[in-house]
Amino acid sequence: MSTTRAKRLLLAPSILSADFTRLGEELAECESAGANWIHIDVMDGRFVPNITMGAFIVEACKRATKLPLDIHLMIEKPELHLESFAGAGANNITVHIEACPHIHRTLQHIKSLGCRAGVALNPGTPVGAIEAVLGDADQILTMSVNPGYSGQKFILSTVAKVREIRKKLDVLKSSAHIEVDGGIDAQTLPKMKKAGADVFVAATAVFKHPKGTQAGIKSLRNAMRGA
Ligand code: DX5
Ligand code: ZN
Repeated sequence: MSTTRAKRLLLAPSILSADFTRLGEELAECESAGANWIHIDVMDGRFVPNITMGAFIVEACKRATKLPLDIHLMIEKPELHLESFAGAGANNITVHIEACPHIHRTLQHIKSLGCRAGVALNPGTPVGAIEAVLGDADQILTMSVNPGYSGQKFILSTVAKVREIRKKLDVLKSSAHIEVDGGIDAQTLPKMKKAGADVFVAATAVFKHPKGTQAGIKSLRNAMRGA
């Protein structure tokens, strides 16, 4: 194991697959079953084909859980909306490199709002695209599906990207998290863990688990504990 790797592995259920008629209860179940962060997928129908939720939902989640809120912005011009999400209660804000020509400025902007700053990259984006700001980000989000929807198939080639990012962070002696998002379940999680990921986002594997949300969390926590 690398020396600079953050010691704690974190589980971040994505509410994209939650039952929104009972969101508060879903969040309470996540909290009691041992989730660490709540991941909120914001999509604008432009950067990605789907439209999901905005700051209004973040604010509702803030009132319903004490867990840190991890906001994944899959939107064009995310820099225009940072104050709004921070004001709604975001703890972490992640923007996509593909949507940010001024990524250094955007990461500093997020930090100035008191949030942890993350940069995300799509499966088709090489690690080199974020290399210049690896030392500026608090978390690197590696997409293991093309963003837009939950329930997609895990893209195996992204495991090697995680390994590559982990090596680069080690060289920098950075304690930034590597967060993986898309198709994470009890089978794919160990591969990403071994490659150096330490934050695991999951929507389907948590909220669509045949035995319910708490069982979904427990199954992933078991996978996190394994080899
Ligand atoms: C995809 C989102 C993911 C998604 C993951 O665009 O960023 O967070 O909710 O869903 P699963 O875990 O079902 O692949
Ligand atoms: Zn996400």
